[in-house]
Amino acid sequence: MSHSIWSVFTLILFTVATFAKTIVVTVGGNTTNDATKVFQPTTVTAQNGDTVFFNFTQGNHTVTQSTFASPCIPAHETNVTINGFDSSFRNAGAGTAITNLEYTVTDSSTTVWFYDSNTCARGGVGAININGSSSETIDGFRRNAIRLNGTSPSSSTSASGTASSTAASPTATLSNNSSPRLLHGAAVVIPFLIAALCF
Ligand SMILES: *[C@@H]1O[C@H](CO)[C@@H](O)[C@H](O)[C@H]1NC(C)=O
Ligand SMILES: *[C@@H]1O[C@H](CO)[C@@H](O)[C@H](O)[C@H]1NC(C)=O
Ligand SMILES: *[C@@H]1O[C@H](CO)[C@@H](O)[C@H](O)[C@H]1NC(C)=O
Ligand SMILES: *[C@@H]1O[C@H](CO)[C@@H](O)[C@H](O)[C@H]1NC(C)=O
Ligand SMILES: *[C@@H]1O[C@H](CO)[C@@H](O)[C@H](O)[C@H]1NC(C)=O
Ligand SMILES: *[C@@H]1O[C@H](CO)[C@@H](O)[C@H](O)[C@H]1NC(C)=O
Ligand SMILES: *[C@@H]1O[C@H](CO)[C@@H](O)[C@H](O)[C@H]1NC(C)=O
Repeated sequence: MSHSIWSVFTLILFTVATFAKTIVVTVGGNTTNDATKVFQPTTVTAQNGDTVFFNFTQGNHTVTQSTFASPCIPAHETNVTINGFDSSFRNAGAGTAITNLEYTVTDSSTTVWFYDSNTCARGGVGAININGSSSETIDGFRRNAIRLNGTSPSSSTSASGTASSTAASPTATLSNNSSPRLLHGAAVVIPFLIAALCF
């Protein structure tokens, strides 16, 4: 009897060891010039039961599940039926406080889209199990992120004269490449920051 129990146990161990993979996605790196490199690799393919291991190795980032149409908003905020994951901010510093978030794939036929709160507006996004036949591509997802969060639609319609008169004091305190999420209530300043980044 005990023999058969051990056989079953061994079989289960063997099965798990054989089929369940751990896929590492490194979160961090130098995103100063290219925020799209925050997740390496950017896209992964995983089977049911596989674990995606988000390894926060550098900088202050999140990995937050979202949806294709709203790349920079937590999935459960745009679709309550999705119980999306969210690491919240993990500050790994310069590799001094490495942490991780593990996500086990339960439905490999559904694409899981995700982003980093600090770089989403500059294209800091990724995905698990993109459907190669679908029109929802990683490039399209990244474009959505930059389009929806990189520039404020309302600010582009505001007159540039208005912007210049109100931009003076906020820009003085935002000299570094701060993420746009710091700019609550200051949407009118965003075009100036973008202009500053371009020159
Ligand atoms: C990141 O890359 C930029 C440009 O390549 C470089 O100027 C900067 O020193 C780098 N930062 C770090 C922390 O390596
Ligand atoms: C996470 O990154 C650290 C630093 O590069 C590395 O030492 C560690 O092995 C990585 N973890 C995994 C599971 O790859
Ligand atoms: C990480 O970034 C967020 C948003 O920019 C900020 O609110 C938070 O204080 C940062 N955490 C650390 C430890 O710097
Ligand atoms: C919300 O997500 C579910 C899957 O969890 C999906 O079936 C449904 O179509 C989504 N709703 C919208 C409005 O996208
Ligand atoms: C992206 O923009 C939406 C709408 O303004 C906002 O709710 C969301 O918090 C932004 N996402 C990030 C990561 O800043
Ligand atoms: C992938 O996308 C194609 C085209 O939209 C669709 O016909 C197919 O069912 C999708 N595959 C999965 C596994 O969802
Ligand atoms: C801007 O960033 C640099 C490099 O990270 C840092 O040394 C400097 O203190 C920052 N300046 C401001 C105003 O935050």
